[in-house]
Amino acid sequence: MKTGIIGAGKVGFTLGKFFSQRGIKITGYYSRNPESARQAAAFTDSSFYDNLEKLIEDSDAIFITVPDRAITEVYRQISRYEINDKYICHCSGAMSSGDAFPGIEKTGAHGFSIHPLFPISSKYEAYRELSDAFFCLEGEAEYLPEFEDMLGKLGCRTQRIEAKSKILYHAACAMASNLVCGLVQQSQDLLTVCGFSPEQAAEALKPLISSNVKHILEDGAIAALTGPAERCDVQTVKKHLDSLPSADTRELYRLLSMRLAKMAETKNPQRDYEPLREVLLPTEGR
Ligand SMILES: NC(=O)c1ccc[n+]([C@@H]2O[C@H](COP(=O)([O-])OP(=O)(O)OC[C@H]3O[C@@H](n4cnc5c(N)ncnc54)[C@H](OP(=O)(O)O)[C@@H]3O)[C@@H](O)[C@H]2O)c1
Repeated sequence: MKTGIIGAGKVGFTLGKFFSQRGIKITGYYSRNPESARQAAAFTDSSFYDNLEKLIEDSDAIFITVPDRAITEVYRQISRYEINDKYICHCSGAMSSGDAFPGIEKTGAHGFSIHPLFPISSKYEAYRELSDAFFCLEGEAEYLPEFEDMLGKLGCRTQRIEAKSKILYHAACAMASNLVCGLVQQSQDLLTVCGFSPEQAAEALKPLISSNVKHILEDGAIAALTGPAERCDVQTVKKHLDSLPSADTRELYRLLSMRLAKMAETKNPQRDYEPLREVLLPTEGR
């Protein structure tokens, strides 16, 4: 599958390098800023294109790796050319192929979303870790086995997602990554209220975070659960809530602790968590 890439950013660089290193022919890059496309082409030993039509002509599959807000606009640009029988892919976790490529069925092209479930934060380094990633696939069902086969041969695991589940799927991914960043920042901010400098707070949390993540990955979130909610230490949880300085922080703590109560019940079915739930009810419900 000769693959052309539109959008020479983090994902464009990374997928191009990852694919080309494993024997998939990358035709080359087209990007808004020609210099980005030149750099990506040099990085992947492929060609720089300043002509979109030529890139399409030379490729069997086109990966549109631009920000989500620009995917449909780029698709509309390429659909002015001959795209019959081409595979048109985007990499957004949040959009289905139908959302991104309206009317694609009339062009004879086939639409897919191919989402690497991995945080790609660098153009030049992330390709090294990509074979650990799951690729979540959605699109024209008849052709999905080709992508499953191709990615399988690259050592990647795949999972199909139905179009209607894409946004929920993406929300789930955000919970395990982006929202964790929000929780860590919240924790650091509270430590600074207790006298830590921001740098000390970040340092002090490192062993706590890394040991916790290690246990979650090794044993699962329920087995890794410790702390006052798991112990049903109701007075401590109540004091935590009373000590938190703002309504939104209390709400964050309360809702997540409700989730922990459910998990703790699975872990310790002999223990009664009802007193914990009482403390965790919204203030007006107590
Ligand atoms: N980063 C991640 O962790 C990650 C993970 C999975 C999936 N994704 C998905 O991958 C896609 C790309 O994300 P990214 O993180 O690679 O974004 P990014 O680093 O911002 O790169 C996108 C690139 O697209 C180019 N571009 C923007 N508008 C364009 C247009 N109209 N025509 C042609 N090129 C255009 C820009 O390049 P120049 O202006 O330099 O030419 C920009 O560098 C998104 O759909 C995102 O949801 C991202």
